[in-house]
Amino acid sequence: MTFDLIVRDANLPDGRRGIDIAARDGRIVAIAPAIAAEARVVVEAEGRLVAPPFIDSHFHMDATLSLGLPRLNQSGTLLEGIALWGELKPLLTHEAVIERALRYCDLAVAQGLLAVRSHVDVCDDRLLAVEALIEVRKKVAPYLDLQLVAFPQDGYFRSPTAAANLKRALDLGVDVVGGIPHFERTMADGAASVKALCEIAAERGLMVDLHCDESDDPLSRHVETLAYEARRLGLGARATGSHLTSMHSMDNYYVSKLLPLIAESGINAIANPLINITLQGRHDTYPRRRGLTRIAEMRALGVAVALGQDCVMDPWYGLGGADMLDVAHMAVHAAPMTSREAIRWSFDAVTEIPARILGLDGYGLAVGCNADMVVLQAADPIEAVRLRAPRLAVIRRGEVIARTPPQTTTLALPGRPATLDPADYAPRT
Ligand code: FE2
Repeated sequence: MTFDLIVRDANLPDGRRGIDIAARDGRIVAIAPAIAAEARVVVEAEGRLVAPPFIDSHFHMDATLSLGLPRLNQSGTLLEGIALWGELKPLLTHEAVIERALRYCDLAVAQGLLAVRSHVDVCDDRLLAVEALIEVRKKVAPYLDLQLVAFPQDGYFRSPTAAANLKRALDLGVDVVGGIPHFERTMADGAASVKALCEIAAERGLMVDLHCDESDDPLSRHVETLAYEARRLGLGARATGSHLTSMHSMDNYYVSKLLPLIAESGINAIANPLINITLQGRHDTYPRRRGLTRIAEMRALGVAVALGQDCVMDPWYGLGGADMLDVAHMAVHAAPMTSREAIRWSFDAVTEIPARILGLDGYGLAVGCNADMVVLQAADPIEAVRLRAPRLAVIRRGEVIARTPPQTTTLALPGRPATLDPADYAPRT
């Protein structure tokens, strides 16, 4: 029997070792030790981790790679970032947005990141970025799943044309309803925007993913309204709260009441540790608060929590490189959550959990799933997070679409090995 592709001697994220994975017609058709068959392409994993691809559940592809345009963010705050993006928006061109987005997707593929949920600003009456990213979604579809969120960056009520533009964007084919309640003028307007946006999602049968309480203000409680409305409208896991950083600063008694509501509502949470560890706490002197939501507490109640990247080289964040292991690594540190179980979870939070939140079909390493995989220079998920391991091969629908040579250092030390592979220095778990 001949397959299109076989990956040999893989360690799987669930702990199975020495496994072969065979693909035909873009799908996984066999997973077993030592499959006795030939294939057009053979990828030797050599006892390394083979995982389903990385997923970024929170990103802004309309702004990515625009760092320095038209100037840099001096204060490092969310609000200056929004103002700066407002200066850049009138200068955007359709071609430039597409060019930057496609370049970013190249970077994403190289890092094994094959699905992205990107918010796209609808507060430009031209809907220039919306139309550009819809075009990008189509162009990259053979190698990357791009899901778009209609995001009223300047506020659903605060911006006079946002409501109409959001509907126009959805009519054009944007996938998900977005919002930013903490940027409305009042708490009441913020809560009203959550209600209105959830109702739009319910009416249209769409998912809703709100930037929610991205603030250090402990009284920013829009997640409460989101959970309430998701339950009232039966949205459940179709609803997601992104960022939720005010939960870090909330009163513990209030949180003890809030967490069960979030859990009962069935909504998902997405934390963005790389950016929020830098954006939050900017009004503090010392002690300076961390900008991460209560991940462990939500997980303990069974809430699906994913980790997103949010920004790469844009008005809000000048670093990043489409590396979801960087995101997981930062979450482990910033939360902090250093148990083996929690580090292992952080890998799922950039793979399987966001795949469920995005509603991706055919995701995973099982017979019948899409033959989408990443071979990492690490033995297991914990080592992958620790080393932010190189992606040796990236496979989409049974075809190798990116390769990176293993990281190896040549040493010149008396009595010591001549070469060093960082993955050889780990205790095996
Ligand atoms: Fe965001």
